[in-house]
Amino acid sequence: MWAIEVKNLSKVFRKTTFGRRQEEWALKGVSFQVGVGETYALLGPNGSGKSTLIRILSTLLLPDAGRVHILGHPLPQEERKVREKIGRVSVDAAFYKKLSPQENLLFAAQLYGLSPREAEARAMAILERLGLETRRFGDPLEEMSRGMQQKVAIARALLIRPPLLLLDEPTTGLDPKSRRDVQAFLEELRREEGTTILLTTHDMVEAERLAHRLGFLARGQLVAEGTAEELKRLAGALDLEEAFIRLTGEGLQEEAHAP
Ligand SMILES: Nc1ncnc2c1ncn2[C@@H]1O[C@H](COP(=O)(O)OP(=O)(O)OP(=O)(O)O)[C@@H](O)[C@H]1O
Ligand SMILES: [Mg+2]
Repeated sequence: MWAIEVKNLSKVFRKTTFGRRQEEWALKGVSFQVGVGETYALLGPNGSGKSTLIRILSTLLLPDAGRVHILGHPLPQEERKVREKIGRVSVDAAFYKKLSPQENLLFAAQLYGLSPREAEARAMAILERLGLETRRFGDPLEEMSRGMQQKVAIARALLIRPPLLLLDEPTTGLDPKSRRDVQAFLEELRREEGTTILLTTHDMVEAERLAHRLGFLARGQLVAEGTAEELKRLAGALDLEEAFIRLTGEGLQEEAHAP
């Protein structure tokens, strides 16, 4: 069984601009699999469809075509089962901003059916692990910096020890020390709990450090995937950044448009 199995996934956004109907293909026939316990990084230019893909896998958005199985459960048929097994973090995390991290996390724990005591102990341990000062736990979220809010989002996603984490740019906006704290924590989860992780990132060092395999997304299509070494070799590049630019860049676009 795969942790994530995606076949021919497509998503189109339709809009009307100045009376003209327009179609935006955010995803065009994406297929890939992620093994249980594996960490897979999705890389791609802005607008290439990464967040759309994560939102579909998190049950927040319906695709227009294609098949998705999460830990053996088909979507959207078994979306409740899927929700119980995934933790999701994104840059646009929704919180009650007037409430403190503590209150937000206890609210989430209730939704998950965790006992307040258990939830509080786990949430506080994670926040401390991520370096959020304990004296800030009672402050309203709206008074916290973006990085602090991001750490609370991570703690919330991990409350239920989900077997699968779907992380959309989990370290964007974090300072270098906090970024490393989050990365080390993800490695620890993978090692100690066997957590499967799918993450998006624009940070090549992070992708290379965390991921067993990487996929390059460009204009809604998966244009290459493999280990960092395989991708570098495929692109004839010295480093991952160069491989990224070559495999997702203009050269490929010209090729795609050739008659
Ligand atoms: N709700 C929406 N309505 C209309 N178009 C959308 C919507 N969400 C995404 N899109 C479009 O789908 C495409 C892919 O967007 P997406 O957010 O998935 O990209 P991304 O790879 O996450 O980019 P970034 O690196 O900037 O986060 C873009 O062209 C975007 O404008
Ligand atoms: Mg995005």
